[in-house]
Amino acid sequence: MKILVTGGTGYIGSHTVVELQNYGYEVVIVDNLSNSYPEVVDNIAKITGKKPAFEKFDLTEYGKTKTFFEKHPDVEAMIHFAAYKAVGESVANPLKYYDNNLRSLINLLSCMKDHRAHALVFSSSCTVYGQPEQLPVSEDSPIQKAWSPYGNTKQISEEIIHDSINAHEGINGIALRYFNPIGAHDSALIGEYPIGVPDNLVPYITQTAIGKREALRVFGNDYDTPDGTPIRDYIHVVDLAKAHVIAVDRFIKEKNKKRFEVFNLGTGRGNTVLEVVNAFERVSGEKLNYKIVDRRQGDVEKVWADTSFANKELGWKAERDLDDMMRTAWQWEKALAEKENKQ
Ligand code: UD1
Repeated sequence: MKILVTGGTGYIGSHTVVELQNYGYEVVIVDNLSNSYPEVVDNIAKITGKKPAFEKFDLTEYGKTKTFFEKHPDVEAMIHFAAYKAVGESVANPLKYYDNNLRSLINLLSCMKDHRAHALVFSSSCTVYGQPEQLPVSEDSPIQKAWSPYGNTKQISEEIIHDSINAHEGINGIALRYFNPIGAHDSALIGEYPIGVPDNLVPYITQTAIGKREALRVFGNDYDTPDGTPIRDYIHVVDLAKAHVIAVDRFIKEKNKKRFEVFNLGTGRGNTVLEVVNAFERVSGEKLNYKIVDRRQGDVEKVWADTSFANKELGWKAERDLDDMMRTAWQWEKALAEKENKQ
């Protein structure tokens, strides 16, 4: 059974390819390597004992996407990770985000209706909820006006998928709304590898501890939370990856049901920024250099997931705790540093 994974050399994509292959699925990755490296394919092979097929091209090119499906008529389902995801950059360059994130999705959906691939799992985000009025936030909570073009592409993409499924018999979709994925594979062979200065908290922490950055800036400590820093629902990337295998399985087993579903993927627990820093210091034995600075524009105060729908419907539950997330993130950062020192 062949599954297309777009963005399969990226952070969440690569962990998902590992879990799909471990489960027995055959994977073909499509990635333009705009934010990842070809060695990831070899590292997936080291972990799973099997090298996934890999094709480098840009899904915004309709002709190439169409040719891909002609070449792989046996693709049954696809998981679409490939997208830009830097919130700040999307504010500075919105057209880049709308063009890339929406065009690739539209091309995939156009090809899907003409080919055997009948199911799409889409990488969405809890960003669609903005600052929810009620916590934990369930899938029924109102979608709020997006705070960034990046967030808007996620909202529009969900609508595009929903409308396409309504219009075309026989295609199905699942949008997975991720909370904050962190951590790395236990092998330390794959993990998050941001190009340039990281935007996200955990790569910033590990890069500071390894000496690549001087100090973590904690964006605000005057929020209405126990220690004043914002709360997020951090989830181990391997737990997240496993949910994708279950989502794909749901399509394969229940083939011809026409529907669009949405699931929250988080742990159901929230942690403050300082709790994350403490967990890092505890598991790494390193003292982290950090300073409190002003709030970052666009940050919500607190958000964590109501995961009961995913727990019940998918039979899935996040299993790994914050210490485990920080331990694996740190192992990965150290492995990267070792590799870079050798070069
Ligand atoms: C946001 C989106 C998420 C999106 C992601 C893409 C929300 C709730 N989440 O995640 O859907 O996929 O961007 O990048 O909108 N922090 C610091 N110092 C740093 C970096 C971060 O203090 O150097 C703090 C932030 O203020 C925040 C927390 O750490 O409270 C997590 O930040 P980050 O890792 O950037 O993720 P989100 O902004 O939550």
